[in-house]
Amino acid sequence: MNRVILGNALEVLGKLPPASVDMVFTDPPYFLQLPKKELRRWTVKTVVEGVGDDWDKFGSFAEYDAFIGRLLEEVKRVMKPRATLWVIATYHSIFRIGKIVQDLGYWILNDVLLKTNPMPNPGPGGRGGSYRLCGLGPGP
Ligand SMILES: C[S@@+](CC[C@H](N)C(=O)[O-])C[C@H]1O[C@@H](n2cnc3c(N)ncnc32)[C@H](O)[C@@H]1O
Repeated sequence: MNRVILGNALEVLGKLPPASVDMVFTDPPYFLQLPKKELRRWTVKTVVEGVGDDWDKFGSFAEYDAFIGRLLEEVKRVMKPRATLWVIATYHSIFRIGKIVQDLGYWILNDVLLKTNPMPNPGPGGRGGSYRLCGLGPGP
């Protein structure tokens, strides 16, 4: 194929033939919507920031889970049997995504700590949360 296709992943993936892709790398929305009140870090007092962009806004965890489920279901359809899936997530979303991928029958091969001081909780000395990148494959 060797083409860049710009569009809604849910629609674009549906047009790809099944079992045609060797590797998928996705950085889907995090649903990193914080409470209305200001959150400040205990020691350094800086403000915790969420994601303000519309693409990260979902009505509920159920709505977010449904989106991720549809996306990863479509992804699984286009993956070759020995293809690998990489998913970027924050520590807010990785555990939901982990459940969804297992429910979809993927086999989790590994999880990778990409860096140790990411948003929304960076702090001096790298004390912020972790940012995970998961390597996943289709089920055995
Ligand atoms: C976490 S950000 C990824 C940012 C990206 N890694 C970068 O460095 O620019 C999630 C991205 O997914 C895009 N997105 C959200 N829903 C989408 C969909 N249904 N199809 C394709 N892209 C979508 C958003 O526009 C946003 O750019």
